[in-house]
Amino acid sequence: MLIDGHGRKVDYLRVSVTERCNFRCQYCMPEKPFSWVPHEKLLSYEDMFEFIKVAIDEGVTKVRLTGGEPLLRHGLENFVKMIADYSPTLDLALTTNAFLLEEAAQKLKDAGLKRINVSLDSLKPEVAHHIAQKDVLGKVLAGIQKASEVGLKVKVNCVPMKDINDGELIDILEFCKEKGYEVRFIEFMENSHASVKKGLNSAQIQEIIKSKYNFTKNEREGNSPSQSYELEDGYKFGIIEPHLDDFCSDCNRLRITAEGYLIPCLYFEDALSIADAIKAKDIDSAKEILRKVLQDKPEKNKWGSEDQSDRAFYETGG
Ligand code: 5AD
Ligand code: SF4
Repeated sequence: MLIDGHGRKVDYLRVSVTERCNFRCQYCMPEKPFSWVPHEKLLSYEDMFEFIKVAIDEGVTKVRLTGGEPLLRHGLENFVKMIADYSPTLDLALTTNAFLLEEAAQKLKDAGLKRINVSLDSLKPEVAHHIAQKDVLGKVLAGIQKASEVGLKVKVNCVPMKDINDGELIDILEFCKEKGYEVRFIEFMENSHASVKKGLNSAQIQEIIKSKYNFTKNEREGNSPSQSYELEDGYKFGIIEPHLDDFCSDCNRLRITAEGYLIPCLYFEDALSIADAIKAKDIDSAKEILRKVLQDKPEKNKWGSEDQSDRAFYETGG
């Protein structure tokens, strides 16, 4: 079992397979040009798989593939199959912007993927275009629909932003309710790469939904970062509230970047690479690095503080 320096059980690994992305979401990406990590510095799927096996053997029960946009990396379904075959009971999920999902959904499902989380910040083509800085909505909706049809469980992420999509929260909630997807509204997390300056907080999001629906707050479910709420008809939606003081108290997550850095917390600079150990097939050293990173996992994120990390979400997989 993996236990961090604050006694928290770590059983959830987020694996970023690329930092590249075909969107430029305003809450994530810089406006100014920037350069990507060169391909040759990425860990191969085989090398990542070696580390994932270690993590599973040590007690990880949930693995999520992220990016950037993970569907940009070729052969993702082969990687999914390697992991799913190794551990058929693993909760294996993917976070994607859904642009390339229509084509990939069946292959991913056949390979053993169970669930997807997709971003859907607007149902208006021009607003979606404004947010992602590309005309994306048609392909995104087709991708989500296809994923659902092939039997992947779908959760929708929406980042409410002032004067951008805050007039659409009820439409997005109703769209998801009708389709049978759980929607989670995520409080905008400030970061130096984003051009958006203002997101809505949980109270403001609730206020908007309350203008049409009565709902109650549910008990916190396990280690989910999302607070669940329930409409009178039983439909559940979530709000992710990272600004809450106790948001980190039951954090069970560890992240690995596409280059092999183990990142104990989204907003901390501290990270150690397992790339050399894995490439040398030195599993003992990789395990030692894993234990060290967990030992040093911070108790809390440092939202808004001066030593907040500058690492971008597209590097760490959000
Ligand atoms: N604030 C909140 N959520 C974010 N995401 C990316 N950047 C941010 C941010 N600054 C979320 C998006 C996306 C997921 C990959 O990460 O909702 O769906
Ligand atoms: Fe790409 Fe996701 Fe960042 Fe949007 S939020 S730019 S889809 S990595």
